[in-house]
Amino acid sequence: MSAGPALTPESLNEIPLFSTLSPAQCEVLLERHLQSKHAPDQTFVLEQDWGESLFVLCSGMAKVRTYTSDGDEIVMSVLGPGDVFGEMAALEGGHRSADVVSLTPVVVVKLRANPFEALISKEPSFAMSFAKLMAQRLRDLNLRFAIQSSDATTRLLNSLAYLAVRSTKDKQVTSAIPLLAQRELGLLAGLSRETTSRTLSKLKSKGTIVEENDSLLIKDLNALIKRGLLPNSHR
Ligand code: CMP
Repeated sequence: MSAGPALTPESLNEIPLFSTLSPAQCEVLLERHLQSKHAPDQTFVLEQDWGESLFVLCSGMAKVRTYTSDGDEIVMSVLGPGDVFGEMAALEGGHRSADVVSLTPVVVVKLRANPFEALISKEPSFAMSFAKLMAQRLRDLNLRFAIQSSDATTRLLNSLAYLAVRSTKDKQVTSAIPLLAQRELGLLAGLSRETTSRTLSKLKSKGTIVEENDSLLIKDLNALIKRGLLPNSHR
């Protein structure tokens, strides 16, 4: 399968995390990189494996998942274009903390950990961008934690907004969300498939979301604002 246009130092530089680096530093990061294209349901990183590389997701979406001791799948996060994964084990020199699995067709680039770690130590602006990415991940998890006992509509709307922001590089809540299987949506929202299906139908019939060209779009931002899922400034 062709891996699409090669990731150049210039295109790496356009990804927010790497935007403070010079073209020469991006070139060092890309030394001996491997770019590949994959179908949905491919596992790139396996929980408990030893990990010495990190990855840039160039296109498509992937989920970060683990399993409970009862064998139930838990989706911790969804990654989209421009996201980095595998950096935790690469930086800690330890095991992978979760599986990372493609949800859609994806293009990924595998990078060596050493140059990444060296740049984090040497470049305060790069370390700051990385800290902001980690803070955003924590903020996302905090919100999902805070609403875990909220009603199904709130949880599903939050997951849809989260997916919209992650599905394109412009990071907008109004971006098109790829039509993922309802099971995936339910896993992200922590809802059963039946509740997910019922709640989605309700949101569609109210016009809060619409299905268009194989995507979902959030049309009514007030539904998010009144549930505290989006600041008032979006009104
Ligand atoms: P690593 O532990 O090497 O392998 C699994 C990867 O999943 C991890 O690095 C991170 O890149 C990513 N990951 C783990 N937890 C989260 C999270 N809560 N949000 C986003 N990404 C995560």
